[in-house]
Amino acid sequence: MKIFNTRQELKSYLTAQKERNKTIGLVPTMGALHQGHLSLIKKAKRKNDVVVVSIFVNPTQFNKKEDLINYPKTIKNDTKLLESVSCDVLFFPSVKEIYEDHISSEKFDFDGLEHLMEGKFRQGHFDGVGTIVKTLFEIVIPNHAYFGQKDFQQLQIIKKMVKKHRLNVKIKGCAIFREEDGLAMSSRNTRLSKEQRAAAPFIYKILRKVRKKFATESTDRITKWVANQLKKHPFLSLEYFTIAEEKSLETVKKRESNKKNRAFIAVFAGEVRLIDNIRL
Ligand code: PAF
Repeated sequence: MKIFNTRQELKSYLTAQKERNKTIGLVPTMGALHQGHLSLIKKAKRKNDVVVVSIFVNPTQFNKKEDLINYPKTIKNDTKLLESVSCDVLFFPSVKEIYEDHISSEKFDFDGLEHLMEGKFRQGHFDGVGTIVKTLFEIVIPNHAYFGQKDFQQLQIIKKMVKKHRLNVKIKGCAIFREEDGLAMSSRNTRLSKEQRAAAPFIYKILRKVRKKFATESTDRITKWVANQLKKHPFLSLEYFTIAEEKSLETVKKRESNKKNRAFIAVFAGEVRLIDNIRL
């Protein structure tokens, strides 16, 4: 596996690959890799000649300083995992390499998608995501880029950015990878205490029950039910729960068979924020 720390080195390597008609797949990550990331890389390997994984803990997408400081950094283990799935290129730049002396985000208009759910609770988050993903696209110029559906809103926002900015890259959304007990894989899971980790699968249990209830109950009733379930919980507290249409991410009032809906949830286990979603 080749490892590059600068834009210039990566660009010249990829230019040579493109001159030989090689296709490029990009998997942007913030490191602390797990099986979910590896599944994206495996998918990228099947479709592209060269797979680039970026590891960059992007400061502009964190709305809380402590969350950025505490974000797990495990580059040695990440490198081993990347080698185990025959990743071709690791791009591991410094903050200075990406932002020079101005650590700030570009302002984006994602047609309102940025103000819902995660956007409501994490001010400026999607400007930060848009900034880094657009920068990575400009450096790598990938044919395909891969993102997990756990961050479903992020995925929709990146698709929107590609459309609005007419970027020449195909976005591939990949299924959520879960632990055996149902907890969605996330780099943040490593920060959970023993008790919090044991409690966390409750989130997916709730989502599965929501899927059943959605056949017969109104969104309002289900939303209240979810809030009640979490009110009683000793280790988890609810930040938001919503049932929304997949593309617009607008809240839906009731089931309409011609629409694709999803339930979205954000929960705190102590200081650790966990999100998950399910197709209904
Ligand atoms: O999903 C993530 O890990 C990050 O938001 C991303 C897409 C790598 C941008 O920093």
